[in-house]
Amino acid sequence: MKWVYISDLADHIGETVELRGWLYNRRGNKNLHFLQVRDGTGFVQAVMDASKSDDALFAQFGSIGIESSIKVRGEVVKDERSKLGVELQVSDAEVLQEVKDYPIQITKDVPNIEKLLDIRHLWMRSPKARAVLKIRSEVIAATRQFYYERGFSTFDSPIFTPNACEGTSNLFETEYFGEPMYLSQSGQLYGEAGAMALGKVVVFGPTFRAEKSKTRRHLTEFWMVEPEVAFLELDGILDLAEDSLAYIVKWVLRTCQNELEALERDTATLEAVVANRFPRIHYKEAQELLQTLKRIYQKGSNQDEEAMKLPDICGLGGKLCRFPKDASNKEVKRIGSDIMKNGLGDDLGAADETALSMQFDAPVLIHHYPAEVKAFYMRRDPADPTYALCVDVIAPEGYGEIIGGAEREVDHDFLVEQIKKHELPLEAFDWFLDLRKYGTVPHGGFGMGVERVVQWLSGSHHVREAIPFPRTMVRMRP
Ligand code: 4AD
Ligand code: MG
Repeated sequence: MKWVYISDLADHIGETVELRGWLYNRRGNKNLHFLQVRDGTGFVQAVMDASKSDDALFAQFGSIGIESSIKVRGEVVKDERSKLGVELQVSDAEVLQEVKDYPIQITKDVPNIEKLLDIRHLWMRSPKARAVLKIRSEVIAATRQFYYERGFSTFDSPIFTPNACEGTSNLFETEYFGEPMYLSQSGQLYGEAGAMALGKVVVFGPTFRAEKSKTRRHLTEFWMVEPEVAFLELDGILDLAEDSLAYIVKWVLRTCQNELEALERDTATLEAVVANRFPRIHYKEAQELLQTLKRIYQKGSNQDEEAMKLPDICGLGGKLCRFPKDASNKEVKRIGSDIMKNGLGDDLGAADETALSMQFDAPVLIHHYPAEVKAFYMRRDPADPTYALCVDVIAPEGYGEIIGGAEREVDHDFLVEQIKKHELPLEAFDWFLDLRKYGTVPHGGFGMGVERVVQWLSGSHHVREAIPFPRTMVRMRP
């Protein structure tokens, strides 16, 4: 008999097929079992009728526990009520392994995520957890396709590295045959060498940061997509960031309808991303806007309209300030007190990113941060060297920074100065400095955090739900 995946069932109406999977749930009575079967590609109802089944088999399917592994065979029939449009009328079935005590119950209660993460290897079978991982898979497929279509070469950077890229404060040190080595924080520096050889490359690999922060945006091991392009300057970097994100969102909306529905994700906000251009704000304007937002947020969300009007920055003139959906007045005030916590001129914090992102219907590109607060390799703006030619992309709805990138410093001696100033070991960068000796050119790129993008698109509360087996400061198992 023909083995068919649930995702393909609708193409087999009228045929008798075999499903191979697990019992997800069961309802019914003494005459009928409504078996919810899952096989990884989807969920479908299989109806077992006592009057048409072997008695022992019917009894067995009434007693096996959820997640028992099974095969069910029967005719695929049209069913308007089902999401797939079909169900299976079971004529025969078998149990591969009976399960009695599956540790996860299907309930409507708010799940205890910590407990579920302890059994992540099982939890990932549940519809919502599975949906997030499927979206992740599609984000990666879309990313690869986007860069392939644009003529980029895939370029793999090493994981063991003798040098830091993003500062030394969160480097994972390891021992390499008696020598100190570090796990890569970013493939960028190697990507720069690749761009000089292949023109436009994209590095895609795991990256590691010993993040001591326990926020809902930080992992210690995460995956980054890092395009790097010779002769690309800041404007081109902004365009590439916008185009790639719009492409990914569009792809996920097309391929993950069922998953987004399983997650009860509000897709209107994602549709808006595809429909709108991404606003671009200079850091100075962002600071100005944040000062207004701080004032409004600190007073809370119950204010008259006049007090909530935004300044004329980036098309916001006269619009009303927005607050995070479902945030209590207390929460809004707390964000208000955290906005610009470290004063003017600093890197943006989580509260800044949340308040800013709420005002727009698409990701916001913030460019020209003060060079002081950014990485050693970023090129200064020749028009005002206190600012770096860099960009952070902030996701809508308060999901925070999803992309960080920049034009790279091209001058050999200035770069040496910067490496020294950041107290990085010069000898580890000798190969990198060669790139500024032998045909240096303007170039740049960015890093997109895969899990941050998946967290946003899937509407997950915590970034750890966006990777199969998360690693954080407090979690390294299973
Ligand atoms: O802004 P970051 O640190 O930039 C770089 O590493 C550059 N070298 C990239 C480049 O230009 N090629 O990191 C880039 C992105 C962030 O915007 C965020 O999406 C993600 O990587 N990211 C993290 N994701 C999860 N957990 C963490 N601890 C992350 N740190 C950064
Ligand atoms: Mg960053």
